[in-house]
Amino acid sequence: MGFTQQQEALVNSSWESFKQNPSYSVFFYTIILEKAPAAKGMFSFLKDSAGVVDSPKLQAHAEQVFGMVRDSAIQLQATGEVVLKNGSLGAIHIQKGVVDPHFVVVKEALLKTIKEASEDKWSEELSIAWEVAYDGLAAAIKKAMS
Ligand code: HEM
Repeated sequence: MGFTQQQEALVNSSWESFKQNPSYSVFFYTIILEKAPAAKGMFSFLKDSAGVVDSPKLQAHAEQVFGMVRDSAIQLQATGEVVLKNGSLGAIHIQKGVVDPHFVVVKEALLKTIKEASEDKWSEELSIAWEVAYDGLAAAIKKAMS
């Protein structure tokens, strides 16, 4: 069975919850750096600060990542596949030194953040919907990197 409308709706509603509170973006990077401390220096908006400090760039970047996963959910439901709309994403991630294990770290941080943001609306199905959408997108980025 492909990505269902119900799964797409779960991703959409929790994306709205995520967007409502900027502290979830800070939470997201905090988890990433807990799991991969060395990744701090890769992000222009983190490398010079002590810990994770909020900034417009940090907010914009988190919103892009979560927004693209949400867009993947829409694509998966409509066509069954994820097509990258930003043709330079592969090159950017190679240039930043991103490797496969980073994608696992980012996925774990994303799922924890969504759990935090969706509060009592969180469910296993909701988490799986985000995971499937993320995996489809991550595969497309990794393909563009190879
Ligand atoms: C930059 C998306 C995974 C590290 C970016 C940009 C986007 C993006 C949209 C901005 C590109 C631009 O400037 O035009 C995503 C998505 C991911 C993902 C959707 C997963 C599905 C990762 C992973 C890492 C990573 C796993 C490694 C921890 C970075 C870094 C930058 C970047 C270091 C540059 C940020 C800066 O300094 O401004 N990513 N990314 N990304 N990404 Fe990712």
